[in-house]
Amino acid sequence: MNEAEGRLLHVPVLLQEVLQNLPTPLNTVIDLTLGLGGHSSAILAAMPPSSRLIGMDKDQSALDYAGKLLYPQAEAAGVELTLVKNDFAALGQWAAAQPSLQAQFILADIGVSSPQIDLPERGFSYRLAGPLDMRMDQSRGQSAAEVLATLTYEQLADIIHLYGEERYSRRIAAKIVAYREKRAITDTLTLADIVRSAVPKAALKEKQDPARRTFQALRIYVNDELTALQEMLQAAVNLLAPGGRLAVISFHSLEDRIVKRQFHAFAHPCTCLPDLPCCCGRQPAGRVLTPKPLTASAAECEANFRAHSAKLRIFEKM
Ligand SMILES: C[S@@+](CC[C@H](N)C(=O)[O-])C[C@H]1O[C@@H](n2cnc3c(N)ncnc32)[C@H](O)[C@@H]1O
Repeated sequence: MNEAEGRLLHVPVLLQEVLQNLPTPLNTVIDLTLGLGGHSSAILAAMPPSSRLIGMDKDQSALDYAGKLLYPQAEAAGVELTLVKNDFAALGQWAAAQPSLQAQFILADIGVSSPQIDLPERGFSYRLAGPLDMRMDQSRGQSAAEVLATLTYEQLADIIHLYGEERYSRRIAAKIVAYREKRAITDTLTLADIVRSAVPKAALKEKQDPARRTFQALRIYVNDELTALQEMLQAAVNLLAPGGRLAVISFHSLEDRIVKRQFHAFAHPCTCLPDLPCCCGRQPAGRVLTPKPLTASAAECEANFRAHSAKLRIFEKM
C-alpha cells in the first residue's frame, strides 16, 4: 500500500465490544481479516509477552500496510507476530499444516475495508470512477468486468436478486445484457448509470443509490464471499482451544443469517425429534454468547457510518 493509500483510514468497528469479549488467558489470537490492522493492534495491546498473533488477509496490500504498523508494536510487546496471505475459505487446509495450533480468540471482520472501497482503482465503489475489478485478492479470479461480460442474463439476474436483494434484478440484468452487446462494461460509473437507468424513477428518489445493491451483489459473487464464510466458520471452531471464542462481525443480512444459523447449529447439533430421546449422539461444540448480535452505539454510528450495519456474534467453544 503506497502513501496515498495509507492516508485512507479504516476505523475498526465494534472495537470496544471485541475487546470486552477477549477471553483469558490469551496465548494465541488469529485475526482472519487483518485489513489495516486496527482490531489486531488493539488486541495486541492486551496480549501478554510470549503470546502469538497470526494475522491473515487475502489482500496483499492490506498485509503490507498492517505489517508496517504491527511488527514494531509486536516486537515492543514481546508478542510473536505472523502474517499470512490466505483466503479464509482455505482456513481448514492452512490449519491442517499446523496440527498443534489452538487459538483462544479468532476474529473475522468480514467484508471490505475502507481503502478497498475508497480507492477508485479497486473498482468497488459506484461513486468513484475506476476499472470494474472488485477482487480483494487481485492475483487471482475473475474481475467484475469479466463476470459482466460472460454471465448469461439469467445468471446475472439471479446474482443481483440473491446477493443484492434487489427487486429490479431482471430489469437491471436486461439493461446490462443490452448494453454489453454494443460495448463492454469495464468501468464503475458506466455500470452505476446502467443500473440507475434500469430502475423506475421512484427508486431513484430512495435514500440509497440503486447502484449500491448491484455493486454489493457483484462484489459478493466475484469474491465468493458467502461460500468462504460458511467454510471458514467450521474450520475456525475446530481451531479454537477449549473456552476459546470466535467473534464474527458482518455487514449485511445475508452474512449475518449464515453466522447466526451456523452458531446455532454448533450449539444445538442434535437432529433428533424434540420429544424423543437423543439417538444421533451429536454433542454441542459450545455455546452462543450473543443470542442477539451486538451492534454499534449511537456515538459509534455517528463517528463512523460503516458501523451502522455492523453485527457482532460470538461463539464460545466448550
Ligand atoms: C472490514 S476489513 C477488516 C478491517 C480490520 N478488522 C481492521 O480493523 O483494519 C475486511 C478485510 O477482510 C479481508 N477479507 C475479506 N474476505 C476475506 C477472505 N475470504 N479471506 C481473507 N481475507 C478476507 C479483506 O481483504 C479486508 O482486508
